[in-house]
Amino acid sequence: MVKFYAVFLLLFFLCFTSSSPPAEAFPPPANAFVAAIYRDPATSLYTIPAAAGNRSLLLDLAGPLLWSPCPGRHPTIPCNSSTCAEARASPPHHCYNRPSPRPPCACTATVGNPVTGACAAGELTLTDVILSTTDGHHPTAVFDVNGIISSCAPTSLLSGLPAGAAGVAGLARSSVSLPSQLAGKFYFKSKQFALCLPSGNSRDPGVAFFGDGPFYLLPPPGIDVTALLTYTPLVKDPKSPAYYIHVNGFAVNQKAVQIPPGKLAGGVKFSTTVAYTTLRSDVFKPLLDAFDGATSGIPRMPAAAPFELCLNSSALGSTRVGYGVAPIDVMVGGGKNWTIFGANSLVDVDGSRACFAFVNGGAKAEPAVVIGSFQMENNLMLFDAGRSRVGFTSTLFGIMTTCSNFNFTMGIM
Ligand SMILES: *[C@@H]1O[C@H](CO)[C@@H](O)[C@H](O)[C@H]1NC(C)=O
Ligand SMILES: *[C@@H]1O[C@H](CO)[C@@H](O)[C@H](O)[C@H]1NC(C)=O
Ligand SMILES: *[C@@H]1O[C@H](CO)[C@@H](O)[C@H](O)[C@H]1NC(C)=O
Ligand SMILES: *[C@@H]1O[C@H](CO)[C@@H](O)[C@H](O)[C@H]1NC(C)=O
Ligand SMILES: *[C@@H]1O[C@H](CO)[C@@H](O)[C@H](O)[C@H]1NC(C)=O
Repeated sequence: MVKFYAVFLLLFFLCFTSSSPPAEAFPPPANAFVAAIYRDPATSLYTIPAAAGNRSLLLDLAGPLLWSPCPGRHPTIPCNSSTCAEARASPPHHCYNRPSPRPPCACTATVGNPVTGACAAGELTLTDVILSTTDGHHPTAVFDVNGIISSCAPTSLLSGLPAGAAGVAGLARSSVSLPSQLAGKFYFKSKQFALCLPSGNSRDPGVAFFGDGPFYLLPPPGIDVTALLTYTPLVKDPKSPAYYIHVNGFAVNQKAVQIPPGKLAGGVKFSTTVAYTTLRSDVFKPLLDAFDGATSGIPRMPAAAPFELCLNSSALGSTRVGYGVAPIDVMVGGGKNWTIFGANSLVDVDGSRACFAFVNGGAKAEPAVVIGSFQMENNLMLFDAGRSRVGFTSTLFGIMTTCSNFNFTMGIM
């Protein structure tokens, strides 16, 4: 099946870009690719410089497909191909595909802007994605991956994205997402990718890995951070291609938060386009109350929207894992805990206030919990569609490293 898919892609490649020979080397050039992750301070969104001309693509964990405005002349893909069917199989939330005309015709797919929610249809095409191969320690060579299936989109669909973003890299659990295409094209053993998001106050980028580990972060000789991962299964058959896991409950200072049973049914979603973990009010209130109670000795400050609880940051002690406050355990499916320490539970909004970095999503929020990017910063997160699981570490501060500690100096170990 994998081979068939590769041959299929190669055929398309030969048909539509006959002027330049295929650059893919067989056997594959590496077991993994690496890219720097930049955080845009204006939008709190994350990009990788993987588009031609050192332009960036927004990371979208829930996006099923890569999209970007196309030049006037671009390759197209037949509307009756299986590639077209796959690209149209999971349009983003609120978007839908218009029926295709009768073949012969060029495939069109509807894509969405994850920030504004806008949808637009564009022709399916093949594009280049520029990544570096890696041995897990360093980038080893810049590699132009040709023939990545993507959708064209009107330039207006870029609104709301970081300045300079050329499009969106969909990372979701679909057969045409960027990680699925890389895994298929280069025969990676693991259909997985890892995101290590940098924090807002880091001057250096974080790191994304696509493919097989190990993945090392400094200090030398390097720590294989994949060895620190704890895993929880992905929810089977969610209604969207986004990554969902089961959460059985929360604990603050190891005391269970009282959330009525069933409130978390349906799973909890990960998002790189939501800045702070957002909870439906009936889940948010008990969690806030528990954290409020567990930190009652710390002087309060006026709240700063969208946050509901702010503490006097000068009165907080600091530890290796951030402000010294009650840890929050997210009790995930499979009986494991994802522990959130001060570095990921409190955000400095100004020089005097550190606020509980969770947001009340209102009574109708769906799903009940969306895990936002602030909670993932400086944690290694591994999304493994192949083995249907998500791996996580707690804050890497605990082992004296950060997501900004990949050695981006080109080299070999
Ligand atoms: C690519 O963009 C990044 C981020 O804007 C910048 O740091 C880097 O120097 C650029 N690289 C090249 C080769 O222009
Ligand atoms: C797609 O349609 C064209 C033109 O109608 C036809 O020649 C071709 O065999 C079709 N391909 C598939 C895979 O159905
Ligand atoms: C998970 O956290 C809860 C609450 O703090 C605790 O009771 C439980 O023992 C923890 N489980 C594991 C496997 O650490
Ligand atoms: C915040 O805490 C510091 C240190 O405990 C204290 O000096 C300061 O007055 C507090 N600020 C406010 C506004 O309460
Ligand atoms: C990063 O890698 C380069 C190339 O191998 C090496 O010379 C350098 O010492 C490394 N940096 C650190 C901080 O280890």
